[in-house]
Amino acid sequence: MTPDAMRAALPQTGWSRRWFLAYAAGIAVAAGTRRTCGEAGPARFSSDPFSLGVASGDPSPRGMVLWTRLAPRPLEPGGGLGPAPLDVAWEVAHDESFTRPAAAGVVVADPNLGHSVHVEVDGLEPDRWYWYRFRCGDAVSPPGRTRTLPTADGTPERVRFAFASCQNRETGHYAAYRHLAEAGHDLVFHLGDYIYEGPSKGPHVVRPHGMPEIHSLDDYRIRHALYRSDPLLQAAHAACPWMVTWDDHEVDNNYAAAISEEVDVDPAAFLVRRAAAYQAYYEMMPLRRACLPRGPHMRLHRDATFGDLAGFFVLDTRQYRGDQPNGDGKQELDDAAFAPGRPMLGDAQEAWLLERLTGSSARWNILAQQVMFGMVDRTPGDRRLYAMDQWPGYLDARRRLLEAMHERRVANAVVLTGDIHSNWVNDLRADDRRPELPVLATEFVGTGISSTPNGITNPAKRDQLLAENPSLVWHGGGNGYASCLATRDRLETTYVLVEDVTRPDSAVNPSATFVVEAGRPGAVRT
Ligand SMILES: [Fe+2]
Repeated sequence: MTPDAMRAALPQTGWSRRWFLAYAAGIAVAAGTRRTCGEAGPARFSSDPFSLGVASGDPSPRGMVLWTRLAPRPLEPGGGLGPAPLDVAWEVAHDESFTRPAAAGVVVADPNLGHSVHVEVDGLEPDRWYWYRFRCGDAVSPPGRTRTLPTADGTPERVRFAFASCQNRETGHYAAYRHLAEAGHDLVFHLGDYIYEGPSKGPHVVRPHGMPEIHSLDDYRIRHALYRSDPLLQAAHAACPWMVTWDDHEVDNNYAAAISEEVDVDPAAFLVRRAAAYQAYYEMMPLRRACLPRGPHMRLHRDATFGDLAGFFVLDTRQYRGDQPNGDGKQELDDAAFAPGRPMLGDAQEAWLLERLTGSSARWNILAQQVMFGMVDRTPGDRRLYAMDQWPGYLDARRRLLEAMHERRVANAVVLTGDIHSNWVNDLRADDRRPELPVLATEFVGTGISSTPNGITNPAKRDQLLAENPSLVWHGGGNGYASCLATRDRLETTYVLVEDVTRPDSAVNPSATFVVEAGRPGAVRT
């Protein structure tokens, strides 16, 4: 989409339109520059080095990560740059005109990390919005908007955040991100399937990757660059800080730790592929240096607190899990599904999570993770079949986590989930098949941004699933994202749906809204 087309798709008034215009103008200015930079001698760009936009993430009360990656030709190996490191200047300002500076510096874009830049800004004021941008030579990036968090002892009245997942570029456009960027969120959580590793097939492919399944570092870098070239995705990143985590497709469908989806792949060989995928992911995301991968290992679980209102715990259910029981797929809940010892989070992450949850004094404690926590039989009819790739395949770990949160009196636990390209609301119990048990937590599963073809809805199936699953509150289809507003008394989640995923200018509309009252787990539709 060109900057002009982007302008035409905007609302006519308000803050979000002003911000979008500034972002689109930034793209236009950067696209017209041909400048030089670099301490290893002047480098002349043949096209915009900021073609992948800007992003911010992992905010704290005093700062955040600012991200960009220099790539004048983003779909070529090396991004169109040579092997020399390049100096990139960054600046943070109090205002969108950059007349009141707040912080500035110079950072090296390292070719070993794809000329990506991860600036960890510190020393800012808590609970404030800021603007940021980068320069390389006279090339200027589009502006981004970001914020710091309230201090841990702050008492904010509200936090508005979105969660998104599953953005298969082949099967749709990112109209959902236009709505998300304009809606004034404080934070965005991305719950995985940021890229898809393989080609999709069939009549629903509207933007083919043009490449086979990816395996090498160059492959993963180019795939990420292809996705991030989308101006609506760039605009959503530039609107507010994100906290990201991955699911399977950032590496390989339904992989588990070192085990590939394909049964004949040697784990050692798979770890080589995983290392390439993890490095490309780190390079492309606004992550702190603490997440820098070491070979095939990358610590991605981390947390943030929004004053005393909300604790956010970002989890990784892929890297440390045991192999799916019963050969994966949908199976009955047999002894293998309940077997003790099969990890979902792994010992270290589980211990970290419980320690952080136990120490949390936040009103809302929100787990941002990948696969459905609810035990939902998604197959209508007499057979009870549960997805072994999701928490129902890891029931011992699921029970341990729910019980620990209950015993340690973790306040108002809410689970945010992606993965399955459809919307679900679940009341969570120690065993979701037993409605006589108390509800311990609430789960909102959000559909994908673009991974579902238009028109996949079946109200009859929904009614049957609701009748057969006593802890299932609601289910819906479509593409979109979820927008949440947490206050001291309640957490409200609105599912936002795209009308036509084949069009970048599609209408995007709020759909069903659910409320969790503080002190009363479980969701009620409003
Ligand atoms: Fe997905």
